[in-house]
Amino acid sequence: MLFEYSVLAFVVITCSLSLIYCVVTGISPVPSSKGSKKHMFDLLPAGFSGEVCDLGAGWGSLAFPLAQRFPKSQVYAYEISPVPWLVMQVRRIFQIRQNLTIQRVNMLNKSFAFRAETAAVVCYLHSEALERLRPKLERDLNTGTLIISNVFEIPGWQPEAVHEIDDGFCPQIYVYRVP
Ligand SMILES: C[S@@+](CC[C@H](N)C(=O)[O-])C[C@H]1O[C@@H](n2cnc3c(N)ncnc32)[C@H](O)[C@@H]1O
Repeated sequence: MLFEYSVLAFVVITCSLSLIYCVVTGISPVPSSKGSKKHMFDLLPAGFSGEVCDLGAGWGSLAFPLAQRFPKSQVYAYEISPVPWLVMQVRRIFQIRQNLTIQRVNMLNKSFAFRAETAAVVCYLHSEALERLRPKLERDLNTGTLIISNVFEIPGWQPEAVHEIDDGFCPQIYVYRVP
């Protein structure tokens, strides 16, 4: 009986926590679709070796394959929600990625800064969050840094390109350069 109660408590706590963070951030840890993920990766130059960060990494659905596809690149996965963050930590035990750094952070916190060495950014965040992050991206990242945003545009920036893809769930990808 104790085991059943423990499992129930675990399920209730993890579901509640996930729900709370969905409400707070305004977005769930839903992963980028297979098609959009492939397209986003193809937008990075072959043999890309610069630093890349995933803004809001969720379960690691972009960060882990990115780290595998670009082994010379250092991948930073930033995530605020504790359950997806924990899942990534467990996942890395089974899928070892030496070039992947997972950080539990609120990117909107004043004390948080993006690494100036960042060469590319991938994200799947709603436009309101991107608008709030924009001043920080402009402040911390070098001019010309590549930003690949799945589905949502970054208000106030002019995209370098918009890729329409045949995917009902993630129909477009916005490409930007930090101005
Ligand atoms: C839609 S998921 C994207 C997951 C993954 N990047 C992908 O494309 O497959 C967005 C994630 O961003 C996280 N997030 C939202 N706001 C955040 C913030 N201020 N700081 C860190 N993570 C945040 C959410 O918790 C959520 O897991």
